[in-house]
Formats: sequence, structure tokens, C-alpha cells
Amino acid sequence: MVDVLAVLSEAFPDVQPRVLHEMARLVQVQDYPPAELICKEGAFEDVFYLIVSGEVAISKHFDGSDERILRTSGPGDFFGEMALIQDEPRSANVRTTRDTTVLAFDRKVFEQLLASSPSLAWRMVRTTFDRLRSNDQTALDDLRAAYLTLTKLDQAKLDFIEIAAHELRTPLTVVQGYTDVLGKHPAVRADPELAELIEGILRGSARLHEVVDGMLDISKLDTDTLQVSFVPVPLPMLFSELQSNFAGVLGQRRLTLEIRQLGEVPYIAGDPVLLRKAFYQLVINAIKYTPDGGAITISYWLTDVEAMGPAVAIVIEDTGIGIDPEYQQVIFEKFYQIGTVALHSSGKTSFKGGGPGLGLALVKGIIEAHGGLVWVESKGHDEETLPGSAFKVLLPVGTPEA
Ligand code: CMP
Repeated sequence: MVDVLAVLSEAFPDVQPRVLHEMARLVQVQDYPPAELICKEGAFEDVFYLIVSGEVAISKHFDGSDERILRTSGPGDFFGEMALIQDEPRSANVRTTRDTTVLAFDRKVFEQLLASSPSLAWRMVRTTFDRLRSNDQTALDDLRAAYLTLTKLDQAKLDFIEIAAHELRTPLTVVQGYTDVLGKHPAVRADPELAELIEGILRGSARLHEVVDGMLDISKLDTDTLQVSFVPVPLPMLFSELQSNFAGVLGQRRLTLEIRQLGEVPYIAGDPVLLRKAFYQLVINAIKYTPDGGAITISYWLTDVEAMGPAVAIVIEDTGIGIDPEYQQVIFEKFYQIGTVALHSSGKTSFKGGGPGLGLALVKGIIEAHGGLVWVESKGHDEETLPGSAFKVLLPVGTPEA
């Protein structure tokens, strides 16, 4: 038999005995076996509980993770106040760990209790606040731990990339060297079929070389050892070189690449080799994600940007499949590729051809190493209506230091 009045008096010494007497009539004594769920996280329930005997465990899901036990509570502790005070669903699960007896207050009785004693009301609000803060802290700790794990994983991937690139480079150079020599052999020269095979091997290893170089660049970007040598760079020349570079594939895929210089554009201070790599990547992406028959445009003009000064704005626009807003930031992260890697075709310039997922990270690294900015704008991804994408680059005219 529970002495309800005694339990209430002990738990709420700040409430007048007269009120407690009345409460004692209104609350319900409830007994629960072990492992019984009394409060369900996310549910709209409006009962407040005071533990008479036994024990409950309070647990919660953090960011889709498994359920985590926050703490256990015993006789004299209360729970279920947060949903009532905040008028929100239950913030956690409350489950008995053994035979437990509680006093249950429905919303009206709970409100009456709070109204009877400002100091109790204040204590409840403070408890709710402390519990909220403690739950937020747990969520933050979880996030911090996950972030640390991710950073370590990222570093491990980068280390692997760097080692793999170095390991691949030597045998690749050997293959290229021998193939070159083979190509010059009289027997090969005399046989066009053999010469074509050799040509194929050389093309393949050149492509592999590009991938390996990209891998090395990425690992350098991350360790800030990428050397940027600033010299005057004429953008019109850089873009028209790219245009002739891609003439073959543009023809095969019936794509147009138009270059529009809008007004006078001065030389910019930059690293021509790195800038070429960045714009090469942006154009190759436009080619990859635009179906045959589409149009790619590079427009550029002189502008003035706060915190950058005189700058050149460059927009690489296509009439391709576009990019969902939710991916528009992550595509610039290392190793990120939209969709399943296994579904990508592997051609460098074929429609939706894959790659190692390093291209845009490299673009971002190179542009930022020049003190510039790069981002993408697209209405979304749609392979039917082809909303297209516009990659926008701002490059300061002078060196970042200047
Ligand atoms: P409520 O959100 O109504 O239902 C679940 C209850 O678990 C909640 O009220 C509090 O009583 C309790 N609770 C939630 N988080 C904590 C915590 N960090 N410490 C103690 N109790 C908590």
C-alpha cells in the first residue's frame, strides 16, 4: 500500500500541505513490470510521473543512431514533465528496468500542482532546461565523435590515394616507355594494325597518367603543398586551347562549345597549368553530363567583387541533366560522386561517364589557392527536361596576397 501523501510531501516540499492533500486524491498509483515502456519518444502523451519505488531508464535516439541510454532514475525522481511544459512530443523513451511503482498526474492535475507553487514551477522549468541542454550536449558529443571518425577516415583515404598514386606512377612510366619503343620498332611501323594497337595502349596509359596526376594533386591540396606559381595568364588563350582540345569529342557527341568574352578582360595572375586543369575539369564535366546534341557555353567578363577587388567572373553553362540542390555543395567534396559508382560508365567524355570523384574537389582547391571562389547553380536534376548546370568561378585579377 503506497502512502501517497508521504511520497508527495517528500518530493514537493515547496507545495502547501493543503494542495498536497488534494493532489493525493487526484493522482493514480500505477505498477509496472520490468521492461515496460511508460513514455514513448515522439509520442504525444500528457501524463507526468513521480517514481515511488523501482527504477526507470531514460533513452533516446540521436540523429538516426541506435537508442542510447541517457540515465536511470529512482524513487523521488520525476519524468514526463518536458512534453507537458513544452507542449511537444515526448523527448525520450522511459522504460522500467525492474518492478516499478509511479504516481501518474494527468495534465490538469500537473498544471494545478505547478500553479500552487511558483518555486516548484520554477524548479520544473529549470529541470526541463537542464535536461534539454544535457540532451543537446549528448547529441553534440555524438556529432563530434562522428566528425572525428570521418576526419580520420578521410585522412586514411588521402594517405591511400597518395601511396596508390606513387605506386602506380613508376610501372605506368615503364609501360609508356616500352610502348613508345615498341611503336618505333620497324615491325610495328610496317604493320598498321599493330601500330593502331600500340596507339590504343598509349592513349590508355596517358589517361591513367592523368588520373594518377589528379590523385597526387588532391593529396597535395590537402597538405597545402600544392605549388602555385603566379604569372600573367591570358584567359582567352586558355579557353580557346581547351576548345581545340575537345574539338574531336564535341564533334562525335554533336555538342557545341561556345566561348563568349564580354568586354575587355585583362590577364589574371595565376598558375596556367593549374588553371588549365581546373577549367579542363569543368568542361569535361559539362560534356559528361550533357546528352548528345547539347550546348556548352563559357562566358567571362571583368567585374568587381567585395573582398576580392577586380576579378574575372567565368560561367561554364551546359544544357545537361542538372544537379539537385541537395548535392550542389557536396559535389565539391573529395571522393563525392552522385549516384552509384558501379552505374557509371567509365569513358572520360561519354554521357554520364564516371571518374574517381576527385575532379571538382581539385577545381575547388585550385580556384581557392588563387584566392577565388567556385560554386554551382542548377534548378535541379532532370534527365527529361534537362535544366542544365552553371558552374560559376570568380578569380581575382591580382595575386591573392596583393
Ligand atoms: P518527456 O519529454 O515528457 O518524456 C520523456 C522524459 O524523459 C522527459 O520528459 C524527461 O522527463 C525525461 N528525460 C529526457 N531527457 C532527460 C535527461 N537528459 N535526463 C533526465 N531525464 C530526461
